[in-house]
Amino acid sequence: GTPGDLTGKRIVISAGGTREPLDPVRFLGNRSSGKQGVALAEAAAARGADVVLVAANLEVPAPANVDVRLVSSAADLERAMTEAAAEADVIIMAAAVADYRPSEVRAEKIKKEDTGDTLVLTLVRNPDILAGLAAARKPGQIVIGFAAETEADPGLLLELGREKAARKGCDYLVLNRVGWTEGFASERNEVRVLNRHGDIVIEVSGSKMSVAERILDLLS
Ligand code: C5P
Repeated sequence: GTPGDLTGKRIVISAGGTREPLDPVRFLGNRSSGKQGVALAEAAAARGADVVLVAANLEVPAPANVDVRLVSSAADLERAMTEAAAEADVIIMAAAVADYRPSEVRAEKIKKEDTGDTLVLTLVRNPDILAGLAAARKPGQIVIGFAAETEADPGLLLELGREKAARKGCDYLVLNRVGWTEGFASERNEVRVLNRHGDIVIEVSGSKMSVAERILDLLS
């Protein structure tokens, strides 16, 4: 991107994967490394933006010269994003947010001696933070979501993305295929960006940094 083309823009980015607590020592988590969100934060700051990074359990260091807000669960992330969104020109939800959380957080460690050979957990739906932020957006605020899908068929993957773009109400949806090796932990990424009508506006594969630059080009 062009140096300085995002000067003065306030961009709030969530990255990483949430952890939903079960008891004081355990959580339900996911394989998100936070690399794509961190690359976006780094690239946006390098182009002059004021960046807030809402960081959920990153496996990579947060970049320098961004305002990092550490969170763990989806509930923490929602609070931090809602607060930061009030001042934002652009909101990017790159975090992998748990769809469900344990219905109760035990005050004491769950003990196998009390539980026996099987343990059944009851989970409850988390709110959709992206859809909430998109619905509450201020005039002119741009909201970008991500969709990580494991669907192998490219046509079906695109169909899922289009449906999601419409449902979430965001301006752009970054669609990528993830699996055991590609996507989350990988250094590279392969994405398509859809606009709110479901049209493909970007198709790019490359390093997470080069993918970040292309996404930020939408804003300049
Ligand atoms: O529905 P799905 O999880 O595939 O949507 C992914 C997008 O929605 C990502 O941008 C993610 O950050 C966001 N999300 C959210 N709150 C949830 C689940 C996902 O904001 N509870």
